[in-house]
Amino acid sequence: MQEIRVELTEHPQPKPTDSSKLGFGTIFTDHMFIMNYDEGEGWHDARIVPFGPIELSPAAMCLHYGQSVFEGMKAYRAVDGRILLFRPDKNMARLNSSNDRLCIPLIDEEFSKKAIEKLVSIEKDWIPSAEGTSLYIRPFIIGIDPHVGVHPAQHLLFIVLCSPVGAYYPEGLNPVKIYVETNYVRAVKGGMGYTKTAGNYAASLKAQDEAEKQNYTQVLWLDGVERKYIEEVGTMNVFFVIGDEIVTPALQGSILPGITRMSAIELLKSWGMNVVERKLSIDELAQAAQDGKLKEAFGTGTAAVISPIGHLKWGDDVMNINNGEIGPISQRLYDTLTGIQWGKIQDEFGWTVEV
Ligand code: COI
Repeated sequence: MQEIRVELTEHPQPKPTDSSKLGFGTIFTDHMFIMNYDEGEGWHDARIVPFGPIELSPAAMCLHYGQSVFEGMKAYRAVDGRILLFRPDKNMARLNSSNDRLCIPLIDEEFSKKAIEKLVSIEKDWIPSAEGTSLYIRPFIIGIDPHVGVHPAQHLLFIVLCSPVGAYYPEGLNPVKIYVETNYVRAVKGGMGYTKTAGNYAASLKAQDEAEKQNYTQVLWLDGVERKYIEEVGTMNVFFVIGDEIVTPALQGSILPGITRMSAIELLKSWGMNVVERKLSIDELAQAAQDGKLKEAFGTGTAAVISPIGHLKWGDDVMNINNGEIGPISQRLYDTLTGIQWGKIQDEFGWTVEV
């Protein structure tokens, strides 16, 4: 395994003192991890260096053709002071799945996990401890060849930065308002919907912007072909409690395979609940709401954690779910998942990794 060179900053920044003002993703820690890829040499020159601007040619491929992938993961300060990562192996595996789709050379998952552990341990004093806070970790890879021809890059950068964060949605655990997007589409099967690549998020911006102008938090994407089946929200996967079934859309290539989604399914199954991954049309959901069978809706994601959905609008049809309040299943999932992440609950699944 290659060595990781460490160069510590001579100008450490003051750490945030008020955890309630952290917000999401605007404050960065003192250091970042960087590693280069050059054709013929492979991934090399792994280093942890002071956080700061990187030099890129204006012709760098990632700026023109979006050859760029990323991950989102968190480090938690447990109640007993330990620092825990949550299922980092799954993030590294998903990064390689995105890499493969975008013709990015695969990374060594074990080495990358160790590099992130080393970065987090250097930045441990940046990890907030207040309830609901964590250190968000953003690994990403970009193609940097100065070349405006459309080809897979031969020179790339793998960077990891860290940001102390609070809740992603200002609503926190209060239910969010979402509408069903009927004009734009996010992804189609055969495309890149299952990857974490910049383009998927760029494709969502217009709809997101229109939603915010109408006082909605996000949009719920339907499939891009029939415009009928529910997919995801874009920052989170979705679950619906319909009668005695908990339904989440099956992964069919256009939906992000969320690690929180996977963990929620495993938890729900371990509680003996009837969780089903299947196609769910928006008509079926609206009918269930009309028949009083739609009990709860919630999103899952690393940034979003468990986010109840209290209001879902589809054209003129408004579904007010569980009177706009968090339901018992969403609450139990939130408590259990964050309980494991913050070391308050025994981690029977072996999901946490101590740094
Ligand atoms: C995450 O949940 O980690 C995400 O990447 C979603 C969003 C912040 C882009």
